[in-house]
Amino acid sequence: MKNTMILAIESSCDETAAAIIRNGHEIVSNVVASQIESHKRFGGVVPEIASRHHVEQITMVIEEALAQADVKPADLAAVAVTEGPGLVGALLIGINAAKAFAFAHNLPIVGVHHIAGHIYANALVQPMVFPLLALVVSGGHTELVYMKEHGSFEVIGETRDDAAGEAYDKVARVLNLPYPGGPRIDQLAHEGEEAVTFPRVWLEEDSYDFSFSGLKSAVINYKHNMDQRGGEISPTAVAKGFQESVVEVLTAKTLRAARAYQVKQVIAAGGVAANKGLRASLEAVFAKEGIAFFVPPLKLCTDNAAMIGAAATPMYEAGVRGNLMMNGRPGMEL
Ligand code: KG4
Ligand code: ZN
Repeated sequence: MKNTMILAIESSCDETAAAIIRNGHEIVSNVVASQIESHKRFGGVVPEIASRHHVEQITMVIEEALAQADVKPADLAAVAVTEGPGLVGALLIGINAAKAFAFAHNLPIVGVHHIAGHIYANALVQPMVFPLLALVVSGGHTELVYMKEHGSFEVIGETRDDAAGEAYDKVARVLNLPYPGGPRIDQLAHEGEEAVTFPRVWLEEDSYDFSFSGLKSAVINYKHNMDQRGGEISPTAVAKGFQESVVEVLTAKTLRAARAYQVKQVIAAGGVAANKGLRASLEAVFAKEGIAFFVPPLKLCTDNAAMIGAAATPMYEAGVRGNLMMNGRPGMEL
């Protein structure tokens, strides 16, 4: 019986994480140490602070993942680690920990693309069915990725400016909400009936690309105009209007791409896939369209190492191997 056990490590941004994944889909352990509290007062992730936290946490997090799984290094087939993209200082902590562990226990090492990880979070919930379309929406990414088979990624659309999560975080700042703003705006958007109408940015008719900076500016201008007139904005109406614009554009483009590429499965991935409004909208259109749609549970949407282990397993099985020369690749392409 197949028993491929992988230790996976993720440290590309502000979570220090390690997990043990069996056969690419079974979570044996999944440990995440979040640094959000340390970055909150700066309104965003401070790279130098992130690196310091990773250094402090990484050994403990790896030991905890092994202990919770009751797994010894000798039980492992490989060590997987996020190779990029991300903050270079943050990436290097995970990569060096992975290299040291691999060297000490004579294990192969597999470097994983962070976004491939987000997409493969779905493999921890149900088998991936190809051809597949993934909507990747996080703090750093907004991409539509077409996958013909395991390991094949074609980016058919991407943001031309801000990522969806970045727009959420910036609008949250305008509303004086704490970082990360996405979850708070999502919550506010469901608390009121009224919505301010903001523009939808569609770009060229046949484009699968996105643009969110204009929407962000529209929210800033709206607040500015209200301030000048001495009026009060309604945070719930702004949150609801902003979220409606983001969700409508993401849903429409994902549906058009799913039809054009005749995919069998559509999945959402990344931190913004945790958004209740987006989930409900995608679920509704794909139920009507008759295309299977999945989004992993909240805990697997935001950064974690289980998803890195899931993405690494088919790579490991296909013979992909890194080596001890591995370096952080902040701008790594999918
Ligand atoms: O994937 P992730 O954990 O980290 C990156 O790789 O970027 O995504 C974090 C992003 C943040 O911008 C955060 O505000 C956003 O995901 N986010 C949300 C929600 N939960 C997290 N955005 C909208 N609605 C949410 N419920
Ligand atoms: Zn991420």
